[in-house]
Amino acid sequence: MTVKISVLVSGRGTNLQSVIDAIENGEIRNAEIACVISDKKEAYALQRAEKHGIAGIFVNPADFSSRQEYDQKVLEILKEKGTDLVLLAGYMRIISDELINEFKNKMINIHPSLLPSFKGLNAQKQAIEYGVKMTGCTVHFVEPDLDAGPVILQKTVPILESDTVETLTERLLVEENKAYREAVKLFVDGKLEVDGRIVKIKR
Ligand code: GAR
Repeated sequence: MTVKISVLVSGRGTNLQSVIDAIENGEIRNAEIACVISDKKEAYALQRAEKHGIAGIFVNPADFSSRQEYDQKVLEILKEKGTDLVLLAGYMRIISDELINEFKNKMINIHPSLLPSFKGLNAQKQAIEYGVKMTGCTVHFVEPDLDAGPVILQKTVPILESDTVETLTERLLVEENKAYREAVKLFVDGKLEVDGRIVKIKR
């Protein structure tokens, strides 16, 4: 069976690209990207989708009067596309509980810190300013509480004294891109088992 993946994005889309490449080169089998949905018209991720023949859909927040209405529209598209798995890949909008609950244990996010440290925006800056020596990225299932769902995978990255937000972000992205395609492969291969907060990887 082919797992249909829909990806929500707002920006550059390197994590989206990583998953597209892994599907195209056969690292992830039995999966296809059904669509890419963006809340930003200019998101480069939409162009990446188009280059690979994937439907890129801009849903304009200005056309909706509330978050619930906006997410209702997103849900409609996700259902129409037969979505089995939703990936958040640099999607910077808060998602309504209703939409999250529709995809319980079937919606995955990537965050640029070792959660539960440095939730929310500008996680790289938060880590540098706190003075931690090690940070990283976290791939996790999405739950209504922000950046708090069960952790699937984490990768660590040291913070150097010479690091700026830009240099750290760049090194983190390399690990993020790897972590995301690994996590998606585990999901698609049916290897993830969620038991409360704990995600077990079946070997
Ligand atoms: C990534 O660093 C991702 O971890 C972060 O946005 C960036 C998107 O990059 N997401 C968050 O901060 C979510 N809270 P990309 O568009 O190149 O994949």
